[in-house]
Amino acid sequence: MYKALKIGNLTAKLPIIQGGMGVGISLSSLAGAVSAKGGIGVISTAQIGFSEPDFNRNPLEANLRMIGEHIKRARKLAPSGILGVNIMVATQNYARYVKEAIKNGIDLIISGAGLPTELPEIAKGSKAKLVPIVSSLKAASVILKMWDRKNNITPDAIIIEGPKAGGHLGFSTEQLEHIDDLAYDEEIKNIIALTKDYGTKYGKDIPVIVAGGVQNKQDMEHYFDLGAEGIQVATKFVTTEECDADINYKQAYINCKQEDIVIVKSPVGMPGRAIKNKFMEKVFFGRIPIKHCYNCIKSCNPAQTPYCITEALSNAAVGNLDEALLFCGANAYMEDKIRTVQDVLDDYFA
Ligand SMILES: Cc1cc2nc3c(=O)[nH]c(=O)nc-3n(C[C@H](O)[C@H](O)[C@H](O)COP(=O)(O)O)c2cc1C
Repeated sequence: MYKALKIGNLTAKLPIIQGGMGVGISLSSLAGAVSAKGGIGVISTAQIGFSEPDFNRNPLEANLRMIGEHIKRARKLAPSGILGVNIMVATQNYARYVKEAIKNGIDLIISGAGLPTELPEIAKGSKAKLVPIVSSLKAASVILKMWDRKNNITPDAIIIEGPKAGGHLGFSTEQLEHIDDLAYDEEIKNIIALTKDYGTKYGKDIPVIVAGGVQNKQDMEHYFDLGAEGIQVATKFVTTEECDADINYKQAYINCKQEDIVIVKSPVGMPGRAIKNKFMEKVFFGRIPIKHCYNCIKSCNPAQTPYCITEALSNAAVGNLDEALLFCGANAYMEDKIRTVQDVLDDYFA
């Protein structure tokens, strides 16, 4: 059983957010398809201009232009659907990206990979819903407290991203080795309780959405029983026809085995989860020197970074697998064929 997901005045018929996936994995095709079917589609803004001819010369300009372009294309696919963007806090020029998405009429700004402490100020005066991603009670508490004290507002929804998620993870490598499902359920319950307190203070319902390895109806209902009002799913959408990724990338998910999925260091300064491949072996044996800096991540030092994350993820997006970082969730090995967005939604809602 499920209920529609209400975030302020927005109502998604299906309580599912398709997780933002950069670089170039969740763009307008996937986000538009999910949105058209009643979920919330999310475009990742991470180096969204990667395939533009001027990207090497002026990545910021190419990225800002393509934010508008992809929002427009997704709206065409889902004229009355709900659409978000995922903007990593670690992104250089973070505020410019947020403002550009707002200018193009986005419904939600979803931000993780760092704490979006400045988001309320940047988005001030807009109708876009503000949705932080957190992985711990501590992170949730910092955001709720800071937004309350500094900006006198509270988030419109909160996404809790657990240890089975893909991409960058809000846990240390050490934590990832020791965390267990039961202990994390407690963390989820505590975050929901804290969020409710702030909801009461501001007289609004702040839905909590759980992400990370939510594989089927049973998992979803488990989180609903804990008090969540929605789920965020990413990995399962990669192997859909509608997903924007190259077919080679989708095939890498289908071909991988559980033991191929490992934790890697990323220039973003957080661990990430990815499929073991030639690229990772290369990185293991030494740094890959930077030929060209795209100035993408605040925390990256090009002189020391083990590899260029923009190059590695752009290579993934275009299917150049041997030179690519193949981000995935812990359950990617479970995907065994190309399906459609509707098939994935049916796993939860049919
Ligand atoms: C390929 C890939 C790329 C991702 N990129 C991002 C990203 O750019 N920003 C972000 O906040 N989360 C990113 N994520 C995390 C997802 O949005 C999502 O929260 C998480 O993967 C959910 O777990 P699941 O993949 O097991 O469903 C990524 C996940 C994957 C699989």
